[in-house]
Amino acid sequence: MRRKLVVGNWKMHGDQAMTTALCAEIARGVKQAIARAADPASVAEVALCPPHILIPLAATALADSEVAVGAQDVDAHANGAFSGQISADMLVDSGCRYVIVGHSERRTHYHETDALVAQKTATALAAGLSAIVCCGETMAQRQAERTEQVVERQLAAALDGIGAADFANLVIAYEPVWAIGSGVTATPTQAQQAHHFIRQRLAAHNPRAATCRILYGGSMKPQNAAALLANADIDGGLIGGAALQASDFLAICNAAAT
Ligand code: 13P
Repeated sequence: MRRKLVVGNWKMHGDQAMTTALCAEIARGVKQAIARAADPASVAEVALCPPHILIPLAATALADSEVAVGAQDVDAHANGAFSGQISADMLVDSGCRYVIVGHSERRTHYHETDALVAQKTATALAAGLSAIVCCGETMAQRQAERTEQVVERQLAAALDGIGAADFANLVIAYEPVWAIGSGVTATPTQAQQAHHFIRQRLAAHNPRAATCRILYGGSMKPQNAAALLANADIDGGLIGGAALQASDFLAICNAAAT
């Protein structure tokens, strides 16, 4: 049984006051949910990914809590003369357990290629982080019935550089680009179809990879979370806008409880 995972991607939002308050409120909500649950493992794992500069503050606010810290990006190199970049070891040193790689905003705005995303994935895993690798099609690609082809290409690139032992630390996020920040969510059927396809591709690559968690991202909200999360291959959510309000985010976490 794969434990559900709900990850908040704050994107480029937040400041120190917001970080302290939001982390405290979410940590409290998750603690209460665990206290209420007959089986603590039925409560979803939760992670928050603030902007890099707020990570140490979030790590302090979430110390001794059940909520993990993650980052939104990492450099592909282990270290070196790469001004402005952040390494995987720095993320670990600052208290991160997760890192998101290959988000569509990075692929689109910063021209990240499948090859670069694959390098970042390998670097993150080598440093001991769990890598959340994003994939997903644009609306034009979906309308051209190229969803599976696009997702397969993105996935294959990332999987190629991963050793069998690392699958335990790999998470896939299916984020249809047209659903991100748009208020238009994939229907549960559309999402489950894509997740099932991803699960099949993972299994074909390596049977151990089929146990990876596959998160859905793209306008997941308290109103639609339960219907999405009820599907067999949807193991959690990668939440943008709704992660910036404790009540909305906690409602999604509660909808993910099994
Ligand atoms: P929204 O939940 O705001 O659509 O963002 C999803 C996302 O991109 C998470 O990484």
